[in-house]
Amino acid sequence: MKRFLAICSLLTAFAFAGGDLAFAGAEKDPLKPRVPRAERGKAKKTKPPAALYKKTKKASDAIVAEGKKIFEGKGTCVNCHGKKGDGAGPAGKVLNPGPRNFTNCKFHKKRKDGELFWIIKNGSPGTGMVSMIPATITEEEAWKVLAYERSFCKKWRKKKK
Ligand code: HEC
Repeated sequence: MKRFLAICSLLTAFAFAGGDLAFAGAEKDPLKPRVPRAERGKAKKTKPPAALYKKTKKASDAIVAEGKKIFEGKGTCVNCHGKKGDGAGPAGKVLNPGPRNFTNCKFHKKRKDGELFWIIKNGSPGTGMVSMIPATITEEEAWKVLAYERSFCKKWRKKKK
């Protein structure tokens, strides 16, 4: 009986630890689309402003560097998405679902620029990712910070150059 109880409490402890791990800032289905269906088609076609587009496509060092400043500064993205872009920012740890991990190249492949821009502008409904435009950053700043987020996937940056 003693052993049975010991096993029970061990199992309970594991259940809690497991639950905690799943809760503590873990992403949920990162490859599943986030823009609501009705808006998705239009969102996918949204492109950065012409002047910025060429540079964004090349992910030029200058734009990426500006994006980094916004990401870590006025944009406050770093608080949740983390300095390394892996979703492990201090404020992200308590969110469920957790913030996106931008080092995941599979995620970048799945998303058009316009879809990501839509989320930065409108937020991801029902999550800690709230609308950032215009309260926190401008549209132009959003495109720049997006170039930086893309650059966390090393392959993406190469491909775009
Ligand atoms: C308060 C925490 C928080 C802050 C601050 C924050 N994010 Fe997020 N972000 C999240 C969470 C949580 C998700 C995941 C939402 C989901 O699973 O639908 C997310 C997801 C995203 C996504 C992925 C959307 C997709 O299609 O899957 C992008 C892009 C993004 N954030 C950009 C930004 C940018 C840019 C900033 C700064 C201007 C920022 N975030 C600031 C919490 C945050």
